Amino acid sequence: MKSSEIRKHFIEFFAERGHVHVPSSSLIPSDPTVLLTTAGMQQMVPYFLGLEKPPHTRLTSIQKCFRTVDIDEVGDESHLTFFEMLGNFSVGDYFKAEAISWAWEFLTERLGIPADRWYPTVHPDDAFSYAYWRDTIKVPEERITKLEDNWWGPVGNTGPNGPDSEIHYDRGPAFGCGRPDCRPGCSCGRFLETWNLVFMEFYKEPDGSQRPLPKKNIDTGMGLERIAMILQGVGSVFETDLFFPILQAAAEKAGVQYKQNPRYDRSLRVIADHARGVTFLIGDGVFPGNEGRGYVLRRVLRRAIRHGRLLGLEGPFLADIADVVIAHFSPYYPELVEQRERIHRVISHEEALFQRTLAAGIARFEALVDQLQRSGETVIPGDEAFRLYDTFGFPLELTAELAREAGLTVDRAGFDAALEHQRVQSRASAGRFADTVRERAALYAQFSAEPTVFTGYTELESEATIRGLLSLNEALTEAEAGQEIEVILDRTPFYGEAGGQVGDTGRIETSTGIAEVLDTQRPTPELIVHRAVVREGFLQVGQRARAIVDGERRAAIRRNHTATHLLHAALKQVLGEHAQQAGSLVAPDRLRFDFTHPTALTEEQLYAITRRVNEEILRDLPVDIAYKPYREAIAEGAIALFGEKYGDTVRVVSIPGFSKELCGGTHVARTGEIGLFLITDESSVASGVRRIEAVTGTRSVELAWQLRHVSSTLSQQLHVPVEQLPQHVEEMQSRLRELERSIQRLQAELATERASQALTDAVSVDGMKVVSLEVEAPSVEVLRTIGDRLRERIGSGVVILGSAIEGRPTLLAMATRDAVRRGANAGDVIRAAAPLIGGRGGGRPEIAQGGGVDVNQLRAALRVARDEAVRQLQLTQTG
Ligand code: ALA
Repeated sequence: MKSSEIRKHFIEFFAERGHVHVPSSSLIPSDPTVLLTTAGMQQMVPYFLGLEKPPHTRLTSIQKCFRTVDIDEVGDESHLTFFEMLGNFSVGDYFKAEAISWAWEFLTERLGIPADRWYPTVHPDDAFSYAYWRDTIKVPEERITKLEDNWWGPVGNTGPNGPDSEIHYDRGPAFGCGRPDCRPGCSCGRFLETWNLVFMEFYKEPDGSQRPLPKKNIDTGMGLERIAMILQGVGSVFETDLFFPILQAAAEKAGVQYKQNPRYDRSLRVIADHARGVTFLIGDGVFPGNEGRGYVLRRVLRRAIRHGRLLGLEGPFLADIADVVIAHFSPYYPELVEQRERIHRVISHEEALFQRTLAAGIARFEALVDQLQRSGETVIPGDEAFRLYDTFGFPLELTAELAREAGLTVDRAGFDAALEHQRVQSRASAGRFADTVRERAALYAQFSAEPTVFTGYTELESEATIRGLLSLNEALTEAEAGQEIEVILDRTPFYGEAGGQVGDTGRIETSTGIAEVLDTQRPTPELIVHRAVVREGFLQVGQRARAIVDGERRAAIRRNHTATHLLHAALKQVLGEHAQQAGSLVAPDRLRFDFTHPTALTEEQLYAITRRVNEEILRDLPVDIAYKPYREAIAEGAIALFGEKYGDTVRVVSIPGFSKELCGGTHVARTGEIGLFLITDESSVASGVRRIEAVTGTRSVELAWQLRHVSSTLSQQLHVPVEQLPQHVEEMQSRLRELERSIQRLQAELATERASQALTDAVSVDGMKVVSLEVEAPSVEVLRTIGDRLRERIGSGVVILGSAIEGRPTLLAMATRDAVRRGANAGDVIRAAAPLIGGRGGGRPEIAQGGGVDVNQLRAALRVARDEAVRQLQLTQTG
């Protein structure tokens, strides 16, 4: 039975049972967290979850699937990447009984495969299915196996899942291990899992817990390749009509025959599988790259190319094999014909790219193996694997496969580290274009003859042609995924940074690749350059391209730009005509406006400006754009910025009755689009120049909400209505100051009290006292208060205090007037002692202070200070 007939029977069988045939969904799933489509149920998930209404409660499909887990295994007789899944689905309609009965009926009656070939398995807890197979379907009990791993899903970490029942085909004792307990689940390969019936009743939450789904669903999947292999009576899926013509085409090209040499057979199977995989992946819009699905595609493409080489295919061959795939599958997947050119281009390009380095890379690899084997080592170092990846384009898995073939392994952790190191470095060098506009003048010159046409006043997406691709220092003919480039188009909707308005971002797509535009600049007035990173595939000079501006971001920029004009006019009204623009920034998230004005703005002025601008917004005035001769515009009173040069014809942006400026920027159609205008900051930039920062659109809504949230929280915490908050806080602050003062007083009193007890230890020199003490003082003020009090108590002499204030040693010396007359000098006392605590200090004879860093030496410093004071007083005494 041909595979085309199997397809037909399957769909008809389920249509007869009320199922609606839905087309296969793309290999690129709509769920952004999932890499590729791996099962027919993926497009049903929103129905199973009750989020969307299905076209019908009974559905059937033939789904293209791509599974990455077995890529390295492909080449044996059974593993595949791309395959097709026949499925029937119930969205809260029928459940286990019908799913089992119909699968059985289809296999044994519609397809006519003898019943004794089939072996069902069930989950050990699924008593219903077990009994149903035994009692209703009448499968002998010894042929029903309970398997713990009969559970399917979810795809990813969360989602629908449930127990399942599998139907295995017995290929016969010749394929088995011969053990008496050999049954489905045995690894010998005698039993072939053909159809999986999943009873979707649970939803797995992100925290790992399971909850029942609103309704019970059925999800089944049968591998088209496997059922074809059974019906066509061949030894492997590669001999079915789904693979053999592809394999045969590769064999012919290489001048070999299948089943003559096992090494060639392996390569032929790799090519047959991977050719199908890449054709479908590219057909669905995947481009080769270094991440995500792009990397999956690159891996299989390069693996296929390498196996072509093993067959002696030195030149490009894979695009021709893809043609065989397209010819056989386009009756069911018409997109393959539509995408044929793209499929060809992408494959040929990747082949050319990889073949340039493949031979050199293999040579390097072999030299490496030689060297390792001589020194008795078995692991390819990570940095060598990375070199093969980075310089020769070997995906890590390819190096690992080569290593396996040579009996070696790869240091994957070392590879990851080298890759991460490179990522960090390239991030550090990002943005280097910005500083080099001058040096790049020669590069730009060759494009400047033809100005870039700017289409962005009227559209956000334009069709264009790529005129140039520039790397940091040269003009390229093409650029690959991962490359940082500048793109020059003949026409573009991207606004190049000018007049304070920042450059647009977005993407540029061609039939072979996608570049993400991170910034747009105008290095010369004629030229618009897009600073971009190729994210997928490649771009070539001369290609047609679609240039797409990030529309939401541009809308935010437009709002801020028109708001800037309103602000400018309002400033003149409120402050006077002297308020001239001195600079501006118009970004998506804020605007900044610098203007000439001598003094800080008052709250009243800021409020008046805010009101004026918002009044004009509320009037929802049309923003009028006109082109006219410069003289005429100026005569009408349009504001032209000093220092800007205008050509003969100028663009005049006016808001009727309020503002008129010469401006090349992008603006809203009506002022109402701006939304709330809120000033966030007013400051000084230079003498005579003030700056206002403001927000509009969604940002001002967020800000207003944030302010409301803060004020209402405060109002609740302080139990005061919002309007009274400022006064309340002021009262709190003055009360706080009072409390601080009385705490200081108390602390000083307490410390003095403690210190007084030490006064008995004072040294007496001829009626004068010298006190040297360590005290606990939280601040210098408190320390001085203590000093004052102690000085009063001793009457005549010197008081020296030391304290660790906020962790830093501090010394204070005070001498009474009569002590100074007798030769005491507080300044000298501190100068003598401060070096011990690693610091300096000094002051007048009456009072001096010093600080240092070494708290541990405080006591020693106090001793030195005391001795110095004693010495000073003794000197005069003896002298
Ligand atoms: N979703 C089930 C599977 O992929 C049918 O096996």
